[in-house]
Amino acid sequence: MPIDPNAPLPLLGGLTPADFMHRYWQRKPLLIRQAIPGLKPPVPAAALKKLAKRDDVESRLIWREEGQWQMERGPFARLPKAREPDWTLLLQSMDLHDDAVCALMQRFRFVPDARLDDVMISIATAGGGVGPHFDSYDVFLLQAAGRRRWRYGMQKDLSLKPDLPLKILSNFQPEQDVVLEPGDMLYLPPQAAHDGIAVDDDCMTISIGFRAPGLAMLARGLLEAAADQTMARLGQPAGPYGDPPLPGVRLGGLYRDPGQPASIHPAELPEALIKATLDTLDTLRFDAALAARFLGCWLSEPNTLSVFTPADDAPDLEEEWPAHGALVLDRRSRMLYRDRQIFINGETAPVAPSPALRALADERRLDCADARCRRLSADSRACLADWLSAGWLHYLPA
Ligand code: SIN
Ligand code: CO
Repeated sequence: MPIDPNAPLPLLGGLTPADFMHRYWQRKPLLIRQAIPGLKPPVPAAALKKLAKRDDVESRLIWREEGQWQMERGPFARLPKAREPDWTLLLQSMDLHDDAVCALMQRFRFVPDARLDDVMISIATAGGGVGPHFDSYDVFLLQAAGRRRWRYGMQKDLSLKPDLPLKILSNFQPEQDVVLEPGDMLYLPPQAAHDGIAVDDDCMTISIGFRAPGLAMLARGLLEAAADQTMARLGQPAGPYGDPPLPGVRLGGLYRDPGQPASIHPAELPEALIKATLDTLDTLRFDAALAARFLGCWLSEPNTLSVFTPADDAPDLEEEWPAHGALVLDRRSRMLYRDRQIFINGETAPVAPSPALRALADERRLDCADARCRRLSADSRACLADWLSAGWLHYLPA
Protein backbone atom coordinates (compact mmCIF):
# COMPACT_ATOMS: atom_id res chain seq x y z
CA MET A 1 0.00 0.00 0.00
CA PRO A 2 1.53 3.34 -0.99
CA ILE A 3 1.75 5.86 1.86
CA ASP A 4 -0.88 8.62 1.82
CA PRO A 5 0.91 11.69 3.22
CA ASN A 6 -2.44 13.43 3.71
CA ALA A 7 -4.24 10.76 5.72
CA PRO A 8 -4.37 11.49 9.48
CA LEU A 9 -2.51 8.83 11.47
CA PRO A 10 -3.29 7.79 15.05
CA LEU A 11 0.45 7.01 15.20
CA LEU A 12 1.06 10.76 14.88
CA GLY A 13 -1.77 11.74 17.23
CA GLY A 14 -4.12 12.43 14.32
CA LEU A 15 -1.64 14.54 12.35
CA THR A 16 -1.05 13.62 8.72
CA PRO A 17 2.50 12.58 7.82
CA ALA A 18 2.67 15.75 5.70
CA ASP A 19 1.71 17.91 8.71
CA PHE A 20 4.14 16.13 11.01
CA MET A 21 7.02 16.50 8.57
CA HIS A 22 6.19 20.14 7.98
CA ARG A 23 5.68 21.21 11.60
CA TYR A 24 7.73 18.91 13.82
CA TRP A 25 10.35 16.87 11.92
CA GLN A 26 13.84 18.21 12.74
CA ARG A 27 12.18 21.14 14.51
CA LYS A 28 10.45 20.45 17.82
CA PRO A 29 9.35 17.67 20.19
CA LEU A 30 5.89 16.12 19.94
CA LEU A 31 4.20 14.05 22.64
CA ILE A 32 1.64 11.62 21.26
CA ARG A 33 -0.68 9.93 23.73
CA GLN A 34 -1.78 6.44 22.63
CA ALA A 35 0.08 6.50 19.32
CA ILE A 36 -0.39 2.72 19.32
CA PRO A 37 -3.29 1.85 21.64
CA GLY A 38 -2.98 -1.59 23.24
CA LEU A 39 0.70 -1.90 22.23
CA LYS A 40 2.35 -5.02 23.61
CA PRO A 41 6.13 -5.57 23.63
CA PRO A 42 7.06 -7.00 20.21
CA VAL A 43 9.76 -9.05 21.97
CA PRO A 44 9.27 -10.15 25.60
CA ALA A 45 11.81 -8.87 28.13
CA ALA A 46 13.05 -12.44 28.77
CA ALA A 47 13.83 -12.87 25.05
CA LEU A 48 15.67 -9.54 25.03
CA LYS A 49 17.85 -10.68 27.91
CA LYS A 50 18.68 -13.84 25.96
CA LEU A 51 19.59 -11.76 22.92
CA ALA A 52 22.00 -9.75 25.10
CA LYS A 53 24.05 -12.95 25.47
CA ARG A 54 24.68 -13.20 21.73
CA ASP A 55 27.78 -11.75 20.11
CA ASP A 56 25.88 -10.83 16.93
CA VAL A 57 23.65 -8.48 18.93
CA GLU A 58 24.93 -5.05 19.98
CA SER A 59 24.02 -4.45 23.61
CA ARG A 60 24.94 -2.12 26.46
CA LEU A 61 24.23 -2.18 30.18
CA ILE A 62 24.06 1.10 32.07
CA TRP A 63 23.76 1.45 35.83
CA ARG A 64 24.80 3.68 38.71
CA GLU A 65 27.15 2.64 41.45
CA GLU A 66 27.38 4.96 44.42
CA GLY A 67 26.01 7.74 42.24
CA GLN A 68 28.57 7.14 39.46
CA TRP A 69 27.51 6.26 35.90
CA GLN A 70 28.76 2.88 34.69
CA MET A 71 28.55 1.35 31.23
CA GLU A 72 29.51 -2.02 29.87
CA ARG A 73 29.14 -3.44 26.35
CA GLY A 74 27.70 -6.92 25.69
CA PRO A 75 27.54 -9.82 25.12
CA PHE A 76 26.56 -10.51 28.74
CA ALA A 77 26.89 -13.93 30.33
CA ARG A 78 24.89 -12.62 33.32
CA LEU A 79 22.62 -9.64 33.87
CA PRO A 80 21.55 -7.91 37.10
CA LYS A 81 18.48 -9.34 38.85
CA ALA A 82 15.06 -8.14 37.63
CA ARG A 83 14.34 -6.62 41.05
CA GLU A 84 17.62 -4.80 41.42
CA PRO A 85 16.82 -1.09 40.84
CA ASP A 86 18.51 1.46 38.59
CA TRP A 87 19.81 -0.48 35.62
CA THR A 88 18.96 -0.44 31.96
CA LEU A 89 19.85 -2.81 29.14
CA LEU A 90 19.87 -1.41 25.61
CA LEU A 91 19.78 -3.55 22.48
CA GLN A 92 20.61 -1.96 19.15
CA SER A 93 19.25 -2.85 15.67
CA MET A 94 16.48 -5.10 16.92
CA ASP A 95 14.74 -4.73 13.55
CA LEU A 96 17.46 -6.99 12.13
CA HIS A 97 16.75 -9.71 14.68
CA ASP A 98 12.99 -9.83 14.86
CA ASP A 99 10.25 -9.64 12.21
CA ALA A 100 7.70 -7.99 14.55
CA VAL A 101 10.18 -5.19 15.34
CA CYS A 102 10.96 -4.83 11.63
CA ALA A 103 7.19 -4.57 10.93
CA LEU A 104 6.88 -1.86 13.59
CA MET A 105 9.68 0.12 11.95
CA GLN A 106 7.77 0.01 8.63
CA ARG A 107 5.09 2.22 10.18
CA PHE A 108 7.62 5.07 10.21
CA ARG A 109 8.36 4.96 6.48
CA PHE A 110 6.63 8.30 5.96
CA VAL A 111 10.26 9.31 6.53
CA PRO A 112 12.42 8.07 3.59
CA ASP A 113 14.27 4.77 4.08
CA ALA A 114 17.50 6.65 3.40
CA ARG A 115 16.99 8.39 6.78
CA LEU A 116 15.74 5.41 8.83
CA ASP A 117 18.44 3.78 10.90
CA ASP A 118 17.38 1.14 13.37
CA VAL A 119 15.14 0.20 16.26
CA MET A 120 16.72 0.07 19.69
CA ILE A 121 14.86 -1.52 22.59
CA SER A 122 15.68 -0.87 26.21
CA ILE A 123 14.46 -2.57 29.34
CA ALA A 124 14.96 -1.04 32.75
CA THR A 125 14.07 -1.47 36.40
CA ALA A 126 12.61 1.44 38.41
CA GLY A 127 15.07 4.31 38.44
CA GLY A 128 16.93 2.99 35.37
CA GLY A 129 17.90 5.32 32.54
CA VAL A 130 20.86 6.62 30.59
CA GLY A 131 20.93 10.05 32.21
CA PRO A 132 20.22 13.52 30.79
CA HIS A 133 21.77 13.76 27.31
CA PHE A 134 21.09 14.72 23.73
CA ASP A 135 21.30 12.68 20.53
CA SER A 136 22.49 13.88 17.13
CA TYR A 137 19.60 12.24 15.29
CA ASP A 138 15.81 12.34 15.35
CA VAL A 139 14.11 9.65 17.43
CA PHE A 140 10.62 8.37 18.27
CA LEU A 141 10.54 6.98 21.82
CA LEU A 142 7.67 4.54 22.06
CA GLN A 143 6.69 3.17 25.46
CA ALA A 144 6.05 -0.57 25.17
CA ALA A 145 5.68 -1.71 28.81
CA GLY A 146 5.65 -0.11 32.26
CA ARG A 147 5.89 3.66 32.62
CA ARG A 148 8.75 6.03 31.98
CA ARG A 149 9.09 9.62 33.10
CA TRP A 150 10.53 11.82 30.39
CA ARG A 151 11.86 15.28 31.02
CA TYR A 152 12.94 17.17 27.93
CA GLY A 153 13.51 20.54 26.31
CA MET A 154 15.37 22.41 23.59
CA GLN A 155 18.06 24.04 25.75
CA LYS A 156 20.98 25.70 23.97
CA ASP A 157 23.68 24.65 26.43
CA LEU A 158 24.73 21.17 25.30
CA SER A 159 27.98 21.00 27.24
CA LEU A 160 28.77 17.57 28.68
CA LYS A 161 30.19 16.42 31.99
CA PRO A 162 33.81 15.44 31.40
CA ASP A 163 35.38 11.99 31.83
CA LEU A 164 32.23 9.86 32.03
CA PRO A 165 31.63 6.57 30.18
CA LEU A 166 28.47 8.10 28.65
CA LYS A 167 27.31 11.48 27.42
CA ILE A 168 25.71 13.36 30.36
CA LEU A 169 24.62 17.01 30.07
CA SER A 170 26.35 19.17 32.64
CA ASN A 171 23.43 21.56 32.99
CA PHE A 172 20.11 19.83 32.25
CA GLN A 173 17.14 22.22 32.33
CA PRO A 174 14.03 20.44 31.09
CA GLU A 175 10.96 22.37 29.99
CA GLN A 176 8.57 19.41 29.98
CA ASP A 177 7.93 16.63 32.47
CA VAL A 178 5.62 13.79 31.40
CA VAL A 179 5.00 10.13 32.22
CA LEU A 180 4.56 7.82 29.23
CA GLU A 181 2.30 4.78 29.50
CA PRO A 182 2.39 1.82 27.11
CA GLY A 183 1.37 3.01 23.63
CA ASP A 184 2.43 6.64 24.25
CA MET A 185 5.23 8.07 22.12
CA LEU A 186 7.57 11.05 22.21
CA TYR A 187 9.24 12.46 19.09
CA LEU A 188 12.48 14.35 19.69
CA PRO A 189 14.44 16.26 17.05
CA PRO A 190 18.26 16.19 17.00
CA GLN A 191 19.92 17.96 19.93
CA ALA A 192 16.81 17.87 22.15
CA ALA A 193 17.92 17.46 25.75
CA HIS A 194 16.16 14.51 27.41
CA ASP A 195 16.18 12.15 30.34
CA GLY A 196 13.97 9.09 30.65
CA ILE A 197 13.71 7.40 34.03
CA ALA A 198 11.86 4.10 34.43
CA VAL A 199 8.98 4.40 36.88
CA ASP A 200 8.29 0.64 37.01
CA ASP A 201 10.49 -2.43 37.11
CA ASP A 202 9.20 -3.80 33.78
CA CYS A 203 9.88 -0.63 31.78
CA MET A 204 10.43 -1.17 28.05
CA THR A 205 11.08 1.66 25.57
CA ILE A 206 11.41 1.27 21.82
CA SER A 207 13.51 3.91 20.02
CA ILE A 208 12.91 4.29 16.31
CA GLY A 209 16.14 5.96 15.30
CA PHE A 210 17.22 7.86 12.21
CA ARG A 211 20.52 8.63 10.57
CA ALA A 212 21.85 11.62 8.68
CA PRO A 213 25.03 11.57 6.62
CA GLY A 214 27.78 14.00 7.47
CA LEU A 215 28.29 16.62 4.77
CA ALA A 216 31.98 15.70 4.45
CA MET A 217 30.94 12.08 3.73
CA LEU A 218 28.57 13.29 1.01
CA ALA A 219 31.35 15.23 -0.68
CA ARG A 220 33.87 12.44 -0.33
CA GLY A 221 31.40 9.82 -1.56
CA LEU A 222 30.53 11.80 -4.64
CA LEU A 223 34.21 12.27 -5.46
CA GLU A 224 34.85 8.56 -4.92
CA ALA A 225 31.97 7.67 -7.22
CA ALA A 226 33.37 10.02 -9.87
CA ALA A 227 36.79 8.36 -9.52
CA ASP A 228 35.29 4.85 -9.75
CA GLN A 229 33.28 5.84 -12.82
CA THR A 230 36.36 7.32 -14.52
CA MET A 231 38.16 3.98 -14.27
CA ALA A 232 35.10 1.81 -14.98
CA ARG A 233 34.39 3.65 -18.25
CA LEU A 234 37.84 2.58 -19.42
CA GLY A 235 37.11 -1.02 -18.43
CA GLN A 236 39.69 -0.81 -15.67
CA PRO A 237 39.31 -2.06 -12.09
CA ALA A 238 37.19 0.42 -10.15
CA GLY A 239 35.80 0.73 -6.64
CA PRO A 240 32.28 -0.04 -5.39
CA TYR A 241 30.60 2.77 -7.34
CA GLY A 242 31.93 1.80 -10.77
CA ASP A 243 29.73 -1.08 -11.84
CA PRO A 244 27.94 -0.60 -14.20
CA PRO A 245 29.44 2.52 -15.81
CA LEU A 246 27.13 5.53 -16.18
CA PRO A 247 27.12 7.61 -19.38
CA GLY A 248 29.94 10.14 -19.33
CA VAL A 249 33.27 11.15 -20.76
CA ARG A 250 35.77 8.40 -21.55
CA LEU A 251 39.20 9.64 -20.56
CA GLY A 252 41.19 7.26 -22.75
CA GLY A 253 43.84 9.68 -24.01
CA LEU A 254 47.27 10.70 -22.75
CA TYR A 255 48.44 14.13 -21.69
CA ARG A 256 50.17 15.87 -24.59
CA ASP A 257 52.44 18.89 -24.45
CA PRO A 258 53.52 20.11 -27.86
CA GLY A 259 54.83 23.61 -27.27
CA GLN A 260 56.24 22.80 -23.79
CA PRO A 261 59.08 25.33 -23.38
CA ALA A 262 62.56 24.07 -22.57
CA SER A 263 62.83 23.91 -18.79
CA ILE A 264 64.85 26.31 -16.74
CA HIS A 265 63.95 24.69 -13.40
CA PRO A 266 63.59 21.00 -14.35
CA ALA A 267 62.22 19.92 -10.94
CA GLU A 268 59.30 22.34 -11.08
CA LEU A 269 55.92 20.87 -12.12
CA PRO A 270 54.99 22.30 -15.53
CA GLU A 271 52.20 24.89 -15.65
CA ALA A 272 50.51 23.09 -18.57
CA LEU A 273 50.29 19.82 -16.62
CA ILE A 274 48.62 21.57 -13.69
CA LYS A 275 46.17 23.22 -16.07
CA ALA A 276 45.45 19.96 -17.94
CA THR A 277 44.66 18.24 -14.63
CA LEU A 278 42.19 20.94 -13.62
CA ASP A 279 40.66 21.05 -17.13
CA THR A 280 40.18 17.26 -17.09
CA LEU A 281 38.19 17.49 -13.90
CA ASP A 282 35.90 20.00 -15.57
CA THR A 283 34.97 17.37 -18.15
CA LEU A 284 33.54 15.05 -15.44
CA ARG A 285 29.81 15.21 -14.85
CA PHE A 286 28.67 15.56 -11.26
CA ASP A 287 24.98 14.90 -11.77
CA ALA A 288 21.99 13.29 -10.05
CA ALA A 289 22.81 9.85 -11.49
CA LEU A 290 26.29 9.96 -9.96
CA ALA A 291 24.97 11.21 -6.59
CA ALA A 292 22.34 8.44 -6.65
CA ARG A 293 25.04 5.87 -7.44
CA PHE A 294 27.04 6.83 -4.37
CA LEU A 295 24.05 7.30 -2.03
CA GLY A 296 22.23 4.19 -3.24
CA CYS A 297 25.20 1.89 -2.76
CA TRP A 298 26.34 3.48 0.47
CA LEU A 299 22.98 3.76 2.21
CA SER A 300 21.82 0.29 1.17
CA GLU A 301 24.96 -1.29 2.63
CA PRO A 302 23.68 -3.92 5.10
CA ASN A 303 24.52 -3.70 8.79
CA THR A 304 27.87 -5.41 9.43
CA LEU A 305 26.11 -7.87 11.74
CA SER A 306 23.62 -8.95 9.04
CA VAL A 307 23.94 -12.54 7.88
CA PHE A 308 21.63 -13.70 5.07
CA THR A 309 20.40 -17.28 4.98
CA PRO A 310 18.88 -18.49 1.71
CA ALA A 311 15.97 -20.95 1.87
CA ASP A 312 16.59 -24.43 0.44
CA ASP A 313 13.25 -24.75 -1.31
CA ALA A 314 12.99 -21.47 -3.20
CA PRO A 315 11.23 -21.69 -6.59
CA ASP A 316 13.21 -21.24 -9.80
CA LEU A 317 11.93 -17.82 -10.91
CA GLU A 318 13.63 -18.00 -14.30
CA GLU A 319 12.20 -21.41 -15.14
CA GLU A 320 8.61 -20.72 -14.08
CA TRP A 321 7.10 -17.64 -12.46
CA PRO A 322 4.94 -18.73 -9.44
CA ALA A 323 1.19 -18.19 -9.97
CA HIS A 324 0.64 -17.51 -6.26
CA GLY A 325 2.54 -16.43 -3.20
CA ALA A 326 4.78 -13.42 -2.73
CA LEU A 327 8.38 -12.35 -2.83
CA VAL A 328 9.33 -10.62 0.42
CA LEU A 329 12.53 -8.73 1.18
CA ASP A 330 14.48 -10.19 4.07
CA ARG A 331 14.24 -7.88 7.09
CA ARG A 332 18.01 -7.27 6.83
CA SER A 333 17.84 -6.24 3.16
CA ARG A 334 18.07 -2.60 2.19
CA MET A 335 16.70 -1.59 -1.20
CA LEU A 336 16.58 1.90 -2.70
CA TYR A 337 16.06 3.33 -6.16
CA ARG A 338 16.26 6.55 -8.11
CA ASP A 339 15.40 7.19 -11.77
CA ARG A 340 17.07 4.42 -13.82
CA GLN A 341 19.05 2.85 -10.98
CA ILE A 342 18.14 0.33 -8.32
CA PHE A 343 20.30 -0.54 -5.33
CA ILE A 344 20.19 -3.47 -2.99
CA ASN A 345 22.50 -4.34 -0.12
CA GLY A 346 25.32 -2.09 -1.28
CA GLU A 347 25.19 -3.04 -4.97
CA THR A 348 23.74 -1.50 -8.11
CA ALA A 349 21.31 -3.96 -9.70
CA PRO A 350 22.11 -4.71 -13.35
CA VAL A 351 18.53 -3.81 -14.33
CA ALA A 352 16.40 -0.65 -14.36
CA PRO A 353 13.64 -0.22 -11.77
CA SER A 354 10.52 -1.47 -13.54
CA PRO A 355 7.16 -0.85 -11.78
CA ALA A 356 7.35 -4.33 -10.19
CA LEU A 357 10.85 -3.74 -8.79
CA ARG A 358 9.88 -0.31 -7.47
CA ALA A 359 6.88 -1.88 -5.76
CA LEU A 360 9.16 -4.48 -4.17
CA ALA A 361 11.41 -1.71 -2.85
CA ASP A 362 8.56 0.51 -1.61
CA GLU A 363 6.34 -2.21 -0.19
CA ARG A 364 9.10 -4.69 0.62
CA ARG A 365 6.93 -7.38 -0.95
CA LEU A 366 5.64 -8.29 -4.37
CA ASP A 367 2.67 -10.56 -4.94
CA CYS A 368 3.59 -12.99 -7.68
CA ALA A 369 0.10 -12.63 -9.16
CA ASP A 370 0.49 -8.82 -9.36
CA ALA A 371 -0.11 -7.71 -12.96
CA ARG A 372 3.17 -5.73 -12.86
CA CYS A 373 5.10 -9.02 -12.59
CA ARG A 374 3.95 -10.00 -16.09
CA ARG A 375 6.04 -7.19 -17.49
CA LEU A 376 9.24 -8.25 -15.70
CA SER A 377 12.05 -8.73 -18.22
CA ALA A 378 14.09 -11.92 -18.33
CA ASP A 379 16.99 -9.93 -16.84
CA SER A 380 14.84 -8.73 -13.95
CA ARG A 381 13.67 -12.27 -13.24
CA ALA A 382 17.27 -13.45 -13.27
CA CYS A 383 18.09 -10.67 -10.84
CA LEU A 384 15.25 -11.65 -8.49
CA ALA A 385 16.43 -15.26 -8.73
CA ASP A 386 19.92 -14.15 -7.66
CA TRP A 387 18.54 -12.22 -4.69
CA LEU A 388 16.47 -15.24 -3.72
CA SER A 389 19.49 -17.50 -3.74
CA ALA A 390 21.51 -14.93 -1.76
CA GLY A 391 18.80 -14.91 0.93
CA TRP A 392 18.13 -11.19 0.29
CA LEU A 393 14.63 -12.10 -0.76
CA HIS A 394 12.29 -14.91 0.28
CA TYR A 395 9.37 -16.66 -1.36
CA LEU A 396 6.26 -17.01 0.78
CA PRO A 397 3.82 -19.56 -0.60
CA ALA A 398 0.18 -18.36 -0.61
C1 SIN B 1 16.32 4.44 26.63
O1 SIN B 1 15.59 3.78 25.90
O2 SIN B 1 16.47 4.17 27.81
C2 SIN B 1 17.13 5.60 26.15
C3 SIN B 1 16.69 6.21 24.91
C4 SIN B 1 17.30 7.59 24.77
O3 SIN B 1 17.21 8.39 25.68
O4 SIN B 1 17.84 7.91 23.72
CO1 CO C 1 18.54 9.69 23.79
